[in-house]
Amino acid sequence: MKLTENIKKTSIEKETLKNIVSFQQGINKVEEYGLRYFLSLLTENKVFLRAKKTFNSDSIIKNINVASKYYRFIESLLVMLTRRGLIKKNDTNHFELIESGFLSSVELNNELSFIIDAYPLVETSALLLQKTMKAYLNILSNKETFLPILFPMGSFSIIEQLYGNNPMAAYYNEKIADICKQYIVHSQDQKNKKFSILEIGAGVGATSKKLFSLLNNKQLCEIYCYTDISQAFINYAKRCFSSYDFIDFQILNIERLPIEQGFFNHYDIVIATNVLHATSNLSMTLAHTHTLLKKGGLFILNEAVNVRDFSTLTYGLTDGWWRFEDGKKRILGSPLASLSEWKILLKQTGFSSVQSFNELTQFPETIFQDIIISTV
Ligand SMILES: C[S@@+](CC[C@H](N)C(=O)[O-])C[C@H]1O[C@@H](n2cnc3c(N)ncnc32)[C@H](O)[C@@H]1O
Repeated sequence: MKLTENIKKTSIEKETLKNIVSFQQGINKVEEYGLRYFLSLLTENKVFLRAKKTFNSDSIIKNINVASKYYRFIESLLVMLTRRGLIKKNDTNHFELIESGFLSSVELNNELSFIIDAYPLVETSALLLQKTMKAYLNILSNKETFLPILFPMGSFSIIEQLYGNNPMAAYYNEKIADICKQYIVHSQDQKNKKFSILEIGAGVGATSKKLFSLLNNKQLCEIYCYTDISQAFINYAKRCFSSYDFIDFQILNIERLPIEQGFFNHYDIVIATNVLHATSNLSMTLAHTHTLLKKGGLFILNEAVNVRDFSTLTYGLTDGWWRFEDGKKRILGSPLASLSEWKILLKQTGFSSVQSFNELTQFPETIFQDIIISTV
């Protein structure tokens, strides 16, 4: 099957684009708010005295007692602050605060309210970052962890809202459903053929949800293998989606050979949304993914292909964000890989017809997410 011929080149609807652009602008403001908040924490802790004293990563580490596992994270923070012009490096390799970069706590609170009023779509992200910032010093000195903030009392409500209020995630998840539909229609050589689909790292099911109604209506699915490394996500998904009788809920760690975990090359379609970057070695992960697909099967990879400071400021506080061991393949200061790197890696692993969805649809360049489709 030639994917280029069969995946329709659609243009994005005006309203959807407007929401995505507004969401991105709002997240940009939230990121700046978070970075300024961090500067105010440094001032309170006398890492520098407003614009008078210079600092570097060592003085931050010493003054706020940063645990060694966060040293890499501190370097990333300095890169983000410099990139946004909130601090600048001087001749002695130390940093200086740009005075206008500083906001008092009252100003920070006003800024947060302004952002939420102007960009309601980013409310959950903004409040999550505010909560995280309040705990930042405790987290960096290992007295607290970020995960209870993301999953308060073990609840998935914030994650659900982050994806639910996010027009960008919604857009790409809908596109995945659309691509699957087109693939199924074009590969239905025999009547009543049913498809086997496996999703890696399905989490709370933001991608899967869009597919379930489509597959259910058309009676097209023999099996939808809903997998994740975490039993907590699988238990949650069982509670949400048990009414669909074609779903098989399973634990799968894509860092280990699937065959050793009871998974074979049984699937027509494999889907992975924002999960593969979280593994230590991308080449090995893609090789494992390859073993799941039948000959001619379709792999849909939906990944962030540009770094967002929001992700670094939040998920960057988890051990998983930094577990990668193939740094040369990642975008500097993050576990993410660029679009061109994913394409190279996919081809090297034996995937063919590798294409980016944004390229097919002439999506604006400033975009942070992309879907890359390929076959085996
Ligand atoms: C950022 S979440 C994305 C969840 C879901 N795909 C979505 O977009 O809504 C990443 C998911 O990958 C899972 N995960 C992390 N490492 C994994 C691994 N090695 N194998 C399989 N799943 C993994 C996590 O448990 C989590 O559910």
